Amino acid sequence: MRSVSALLHLFILLLAAPTIALAGNSADPHSYAQPDQVTIKAMHLDLDADFASQTLAGSVELALDWHQRSARELVLDSRDLSIERVELRRGQRWRPADYALAEADPILGSRLSIDTGRRQPDAVRIHYRTAPTASGLQWLGAEQTLGKREPFMFSQSQAIHARSWVPLQDTPAVRYTYSADIQAPAGLLVLMSAENPFEASADGRYRFTMEQPIPSYLMAIAIGRLEFKPISERAGVFAEPERLDEAVYEFADTERMIAAAEALYGEYRWGRYDLLILPPSFPYGGMENPRLSFITPTVIAGDRSLVQLIAHELAHSWSGNLVTNDTWNSFWLNEGFTSYVENRIIQALFGAERADMEFVLDARGLARDYEQLPVEPSLQRLVQDLTGLDPDAIYTTTSYTKGAWFLRFLEQRVGREPLDTFLREYFDHFAFRSIDNDTFRAWLDEHLLSRHGEAVTAAQIDTWLNEPGIPEFAPVYESAAFARVDGQREAFLAGEQAASELPGADWNTHEWLYFLNGLPAALEQEQLQALDQAFGLTQTGNSEIAFAWYLIGINNGYPAIRPGLEQFLVEVGRRKFVVPLYRALAERESDRRWGRSIYQRARPGYHPITSASVDEIFSQTQP
Ligand code: BES
Ligand code: ZN
Repeated sequence: MRSVSALLHLFILLLAAPTIALAGNSADPHSYAQPDQVTIKAMHLDLDADFASQTLAGSVELALDWHQRSARELVLDSRDLSIERVELRRGQRWRPADYALAEADPILGSRLSIDTGRRQPDAVRIHYRTAPTASGLQWLGAEQTLGKREPFMFSQSQAIHARSWVPLQDTPAVRYTYSADIQAPAGLLVLMSAENPFEASADGRYRFTMEQPIPSYLMAIAIGRLEFKPISERAGVFAEPERLDEAVYEFADTERMIAAAEALYGEYRWGRYDLLILPPSFPYGGMENPRLSFITPTVIAGDRSLVQLIAHELAHSWSGNLVTNDTWNSFWLNEGFTSYVENRIIQALFGAERADMEFVLDARGLARDYEQLPVEPSLQRLVQDLTGLDPDAIYTTTSYTKGAWFLRFLEQRVGREPLDTFLREYFDHFAFRSIDNDTFRAWLDEHLLSRHGEAVTAAQIDTWLNEPGIPEFAPVYESAAFARVDGQREAFLAGEQAASELPGADWNTHEWLYFLNGLPAALEQEQLQALDQAFGLTQTGNSEIAFAWYLIGINNGYPAIRPGLEQFLVEVGRRKFVVPLYRALAERESDRRWGRSIYQRARPGYHPITSASVDEIFSQTQP
């Protein structure tokens, strides 16, 4: 008896083991999908964009790869979608299918489970429409565009918003190719993260194909009055015609950036690399949608001083779009690598001095955040567990700056050339795959550390990946130009040098940011006035300098910034700027009501992702 039951046990264990192991590896806390059972391998979208009702309506067809014989359902992610009907295809025949849409979870949205029956279908087709409030889309009226003539619409799918405009497996662990038929109002140009047209079609019909497999967060669409100008054979800019020439000038170095990245990490694998300049409500600086990065207009400073953003989004063509985090718990594999590569591109184009300034600004910012915000210890770790958390609502600079700092540490310890070789091989080996922290660690041990045993210890790697804070053995970076600015700032604060005697007219954007970010929290009105008078800071056209200055102004109750700040908050919806500005206003008793009233006016123009963050600030503070 005993041996039979033991055998039975063993049998059950053997049966269960592979499933458990797979589920353990692929579990994405931000998706209902079950990629160990079935995955999407290709998608076809057929959608009508209707600006009057602010909806996309039509169907999506998903071609499926089944991995488990016993699987009887297809589970998809969705948010605020109206599902009309679902069909299944086996061979050539389409048949209606049963499905259930669960009640929405506030972070994850609604689980859509489709009953696929005993014979696993080859494809499913879902007829649906989006909500006007879809979290991943923004519908703008003509008045919110530069030309004020036509409406505009764009998507932002990362991290978990693709599900608000397409029902799908919304996890970066799954990749698929796609095609799309889109109907838009005649005269408007439609663009996607795919092969794009250069001109508007006469009838508003467009067909797209994306032949490289991508994860859902890289699904993207934009519709508007847009024109194209080339930068090089394979790079160019789409923008509203009123902004096109400025943008082409600002981003003229894009081709050189692509070439620099290729020289470091191997061929650019996505065909074209174009930029789409969005209206200022775009909630991010940039978004690395394949073949077509989405870019905020707030980086058009007129002097090309903020183009690290382009280097950043381009760098994702390797780190992120080729090699992807399998869940948001390994987000640093996307953003930390990208921030490192971004800086290498800047160095290749503009030299070490500028690259170092950019890194020092980021590194000092991170250290300040850890000390002053202060950032919760668990969010200071590269390897994260975001279960139960909204990926939009957490502190993410760790993944960017600490991630890049870790790679710089490796570079310092093993040497630049070995690290470059390692990275090139890593991008090649994991191209078009999604990986977790353990897979990276194992690859690192085998392909770098085992060859440089004396340079880095396992304990050091553990500290970088799993401990909060910045390791005390982290390399320290200085910039000679910044050291001079330190001296000048001190002399100014000590009253030894008047504002008008500072060499501010010769400072570049980075030196200005370094000067401003290093000022103490409390300043005298006279000091602010003197700086403003000497350098016209309140009037600056550089969004990064304006942001830094406005924050200082708010925290010191400096009234001169108020009209400019108000205009900035109403026009710009970039989260990185508006969230800290509203937070500073909300924290000051005397500014809270004013901040709220600006927000009331600005909110209708904000993207849902931005208003969600700002709503939270004001819901947590006294009226
Ligand atoms: N992929 C990100 C933007 C993003 C991250 C959107 C997480 C949604 C969720 C993009 O590449 C990015 O990092 N943008 C930065 C640019 C900067 C670091 C140069 C931004 O938007 O500020
Ligand atoms: Zn990024």
